[in-house]
Amino acid sequence: MATQFGKEFLFGTATAAYQIEGGWNEDGKGLSIWDKFSHTNGKIHDGSTGDIACDTYHNFKSDIELMKKLKLDAYRFSISWSRVLPEGKGAVNQKGLDYYNRLIDTLMENGLRPFITLYHWDMPYSLYQKYNGFGSKETAQYYAEYSRLMIEKFGDRVKDWITLNEPWEHAFFGHFIGEHAPGIKNPRLYFKVAHNQLIGHGLAVQAMRSVRSDLNIGITLSQFPIYPACVEPNAKELASVEMADMFVNRFFLDGIFKGEYPKKLFDKLWPLVPKLQEGDMKTIAQPIDFLGVNYYNRLFAARKWYLPFLKTWIDRNTSDSRYDHPILGTMGYPEGLKELARRYREEYGNPVVYITENGTCEIGNGREAWRNNDDNRIKYIDYYLRALREAIEEGSDIRGYFYWSLIDNFEWNSGLSCPMGLINVDHKTQQRTIRDSGYWYKELIEQQESRLPVTEWSTL
Ligand code: NOJ
Repeated sequence: MATQFGKEFLFGTATAAYQIEGGWNEDGKGLSIWDKFSHTNGKIHDGSTGDIACDTYHNFKSDIELMKKLKLDAYRFSISWSRVLPEGKGAVNQKGLDYYNRLIDTLMENGLRPFITLYHWDMPYSLYQKYNGFGSKETAQYYAEYSRLMIEKFGDRVKDWITLNEPWEHAFFGHFIGEHAPGIKNPRLYFKVAHNQLIGHGLAVQAMRSVRSDLNIGITLSQFPIYPACVEPNAKELASVEMADMFVNRFFLDGIFKGEYPKKLFDKLWPLVPKLQEGDMKTIAQPIDFLGVNYYNRLFAARKWYLPFLKTWIDRNTSDSRYDHPILGTMGYPEGLKELARRYREEYGNPVVYITENGTCEIGNGREAWRNNDDNRIKYIDYYLRALREAIEEGSDIRGYFYWSLIDNFEWNSGLSCPMGLINVDHKTQQRTIRDSGYWYKELIEQQESRLPVTEWSTL
């Protein structure tokens, strides 16, 4: 029998606006930093852009039919800020609102519960030009105003809201190493962007709650158990692991749940970190209803004595096969989900958790990666869900799992060359084909006992 998750547990899939919508300059949409970045030569590995992506701006209805076919309970998607507010503030684009109204209504008519992400990295270009995006506090204020507007427009139907997606990645890839939009390499700006995103999050939570009191609001963080890159670490190597953990994970967790940043990190990196203003941390630590966790794999940290201040760096992989999972190899580390869940229980007050992303495109090389008989992906999901189930048994309050992604989409600077979907997309024809993993996921959902009818969803 399939692993059982209880009657209120949600099974969903996730996407993000720039990665799927297309319609990049249609019906009054303003530009975002990703439109600019992907149009800049050499920034996207395969030279593609998100101009069309999966074209869901035009064909979302057929994708909703597929979601229904897969028996999904919920769908996580993001709103493109510059589609509804072309300049990021001020004039509203009614056609943008119309699109999301149609999307929300069709999802709900088909029994799918919408989880909306308000910011999935596509900063309106105009706010970037005028205020350096989240490099400044003004943008945090405008972001809160945008969030309030979204609740005024959609909060009557949508109860589940995610303020930010992966603020670490947005700050780090976009502003520290420059591999994502806006393509800046500036460690000081990195910290400003990290901090101001969290201020924006706190201000948005306040603004949203001032409009409605029946919302289920959370934030989605990428989370990584961090291990030493060498097999027999000395004290300095272990200190590097701790540093990396504070940099990647705890900065955000501590800010949100404890209203303070890790002191050791701040002491070491004092020339880089922003000066905190009175009230900042109180704003950031607004009570939230859930923590969204994007968990894919662990990271490995190594000491790099020559790097100023940080003196540590993170590698995505280690070549030491002693670290490999017996079945998944380097593709995944399901156990990490339990390690993270334990941390939340023991150190962060056991918050309600949704796994808002988990998935893989690592099922082979080149054309192999696109195949539809994707046994490795099935194994991957199965192992992660088993770990998730064990975390629940150990006392974690995990209420849902969103596979990333519903459909193969624009994977940021990897372009269209990293297919992660339960559904294969031929980006030339926009033809969709459900993969074996999609059918497997559907069966898993069908085999859950005593599912709640849609009318009895509870939110808070
Ligand atoms: C995290 C991001 O939120 C999402 O946009 C991305 O496509 C997936 N990870 C896969 O890399």
